[in-house]
Amino acid sequence: MSDDPSRKTALARVGSTLVGKWHVDRLLDVGGMAAVFVATHRNGKRVAIKLLHAEFAQNEDVRARFLREGYVANKVGHPGAVEVLDDDTLDDGGVFLVMELLEGESLDARLRRAGVLTPVECFFLADRLLDVLAAAHQKQIVHRDIKPANVFITQAGEIKLLDFGLARVREATVDAKTRDGIVLGTAAYMPPEQARAKTDLVDARSDLWAVGALMFTALSNHYVHDAPTAIDRMVATMKRPARSVTTVVPTLPAAAVQVIDTALRFEKDQRYPNAGAMQLETRRVFAELARAQGPMVQMTAAATRVGVIERAPAESSPLARSLAVALDGLDASLESLAIEVAIESEPPPVSQRPTMADPVAVAALVANEPKAAPAPRPTTAVKAPVAPPRPRPTTKK
Ligand SMILES: Nc1ncnc2c1ncn2[C@@H]1O[C@H](COP(=O)(O)OP(=O)(O)OP(=O)(O)O)[C@@H](O)[C@H]1O
Ligand SMILES: [Mg+2]
Repeated sequence: MSDDPSRKTALARVGSTLVGKWHVDRLLDVGGMAAVFVATHRNGKRVAIKLLHAEFAQNEDVRARFLREGYVANKVGHPGAVEVLDDDTLDDGGVFLVMELLEGESLDARLRRAGVLTPVECFFLADRLLDVLAAAHQKQIVHRDIKPANVFITQAGEIKLLDFGLARVREATVDAKTRDGIVLGTAAYMPPEQARAKTDLVDARSDLWAVGALMFTALSNHYVHDAPTAIDRMVATMKRPARSVTTVVPTLPAAAVQVIDTALRFEKDQRYPNAGAMQLETRRVFAELARAQGPMVQMTAAATRVGVIERAPAESSPLARSLAVALDGLDASLESLAIEVAIESEPPPVSQRPTMADPVAVAALVANEPKAAPAPRPTTAVKAPVAPPRPRPTTKK
């Protein structure tokens, strides 16, 4: 995704101070359009700075769009949309956005480091992603560039979506013909209507196709269209319906296949009508997958919920909320048993709670350590309901 000249130029910025107040501490990564740095404001605040590559900054239209579109993220009004704090222009005409600094790793990095996601991990992540998209779509904001490099898993276990608005900037670069092929960088996650450059046909359902493609790849390490080059993949996307995810993950349960295949339908009106509809099915599948993995998964997940309830009200954490909603699909008897087990038990120290610290580790933890049980603790410290099991609301959204 990065080429060497861009990286060299970016590395040369490290140690410098931008517009007299942002010290560039280190280079995080170089993308197709910009370099991302960790920087510290003279007041001590640490941020991420996204600096548009010089060849794009020379183009007035691209530069203006970059500064304007960057702020689209702030209109989404969801904690999963990465906040843009400021922007500025350098003496040499370079432009940059200042963003909240995320600690963790992108899904792209996660997949390269640790391989494919398990189905439970994948559906959990998709649920969080769809939550952000549902909020964005309600405000008529379509992301248009959902891909693993733009999905970030924070150390606190939240899923953040990067680069709202950036696809518009990319479109300007193509119009300006500043760099052939820039559009191809994201070809693997681009729905047919976008690959065909039918920009007027792009809508919320285009993002859902991209979420389906992301899930397809995250589960299988294969692209939707199996083709040797990005151009071939793009041509295939324009012409052919997606293959079923079952062709690359034959063991995936039918309900999970159904969600991904529906998102990837060639015709927009055969996909889910909106992010909320896809999220509902995604949550159902998440609960089903957890159930299929056996009682320990459910018990650990439910015990986590007790921990979550104890640590913070569910409403204050999107992760807790999502987990709680997903758990509503689990068997009441097992869940109440789990709650009782948890009530008899001391939750592990916060630092050792991967279920809270990293949602993607929920399944991994449970799958790898089926006998893991919290240490004993007095019952009084837990405020969670004991028995009878609470009536649970129907899954919503
Ligand atoms: N606010 C941030 N905090 C921490 N890391 C970030 C932040 N924004 C971006 N990154 C990291 O920088 C990487 C590069 O981001 P960037 O958007 O420039 O490239 P890309 O998404 O790979 O390509 P493209 O230019 O096509 O969007 C991301 O994958 C992510 O790991
Ligand atoms: Mg990006």
